[in-house]
Amino acid sequence: MDSSSPSPSSAPSGSRAASNATQRWSILRRALLARSSSARALGGISSDHQIKDGTNNISRKASRGFNLIECHSLPISQLLKSLGNSLNENDFECQKDVYVCYKLPCRGSSKLDLVCRKEDSLELNDIEASNKYNIDTTGLVCCWPSEEVLAYYCINHSDVFRSKKVLELGSGYGLAGLVIAASTNADEVVISDGNPQVAEYIQKNISINAETFGETKVKSLILHWDKEQASEMLNTFDIIVASDCTFFKQFHKGLARTVKSLLKHSATSQAIFLSPKRGDSLDKFLGIIKENGLSCELIENYDPTVWNLHKKLVAGEDRTWPNYDKEHCYPLLVESNVICCRFLRLRIC
Ligand SMILES: C[S@@+](CC[C@H](N)C(=O)[O-])C[C@H]1O[C@@H](n2cnc3c(N)ncnc32)[C@H](O)[C@@H]1O
Repeated sequence: MDSSSPSPSSAPSGSRAASNATQRWSILRRALLARSSSARALGGISSDHQIKDGTNNISRKASRGFNLIECHSLPISQLLKSLGNSLNENDFECQKDVYVCYKLPCRGSSKLDLVCRKEDSLELNDIEASNKYNIDTTGLVCCWPSEEVLAYYCINHSDVFRSKKVLELGSGYGLAGLVIAASTNADEVVISDGNPQVAEYIQKNISINAETFGETKVKSLILHWDKEQASEMLNTFDIIVASDCTFFKQFHKGLARTVKSLLKHSATSQAIFLSPKRGDSLDKFLGIIKENGLSCELIENYDPTVWNLHKKLVAGEDRTWPNYDKEHCYPLLVESNVICCRFLRLRIC
């Protein structure tokens, strides 16, 4: 794993740090309370909870989301059995983790395995780590519905990624990055997150799927949006993707700057975000990316299958996602490019 681990010194000082820490403790408290109540609920499946007390409306996902990619969960012991001696058992936490087996809706490498935490397995040391590195714990909670939509979108637009250098930001467990690596003939895929604990999972997930990537080079990276990025990465990525990364407004500037500095300055390079509106946070983020010299186009209906599912959920015709709420659950697509006078001139010619 490339490890440019954010140092504790990157934590903000004074009252902002204190309020971030308070938010994280509040999230943990909710997670622990939910753990005891969801243990009583059938199979741990309860409705999505909006955490409203100053924690920026973070959904704690408990439904399966849009169900676009067939998958089933198995105990880690099954994964160890299927991979034989190629893995070190000590790298996996059988009590805490689960292994999810995806069947990708595409030709070629159609299987992908993901190791993630079991639902509601957030612990005290997760919060301690998030305070230390000034990062939230949402990447450990689950693979969020927008990530599955992003993965599905990338499968259906695989031509866009062919021979390209791709970066996923705030990837959580990295489903979309792994799908791009397994199914699009990208040249290189870097899957990143600012939380070092999450990045460990990304690396495990890259290792267990290594055989599905063909010629595509795949790397994990600890990349925090509030830090200076390594000079060798500047303006090198053809495509940057991210899902559900716009909810914490204090990171908007860092995220926009990161995209601007890492995206190649070329007419064909682009960033693809998928994010629910979540109050005014997506709109605020769009304002900030424009201020940073990036164009953006917001697209509501970008895929007929996802759109039909969304419509049925809103109408109550599909009841598989209790408390489905458009604002917090339906991801909108944002396509963004670096605005550059040279390209404008080229287009005019
Ligand atoms: C809601 S989660 C989304 C994870 C994944 N994309 C998904 O949809 O399942 C937000 C992710 O962004 C990461 N993140 C939050 N703030 C960040 C920052 N300042 N720098 C880098 N990553 C950050 C978190 O660690 C987390 O994995």
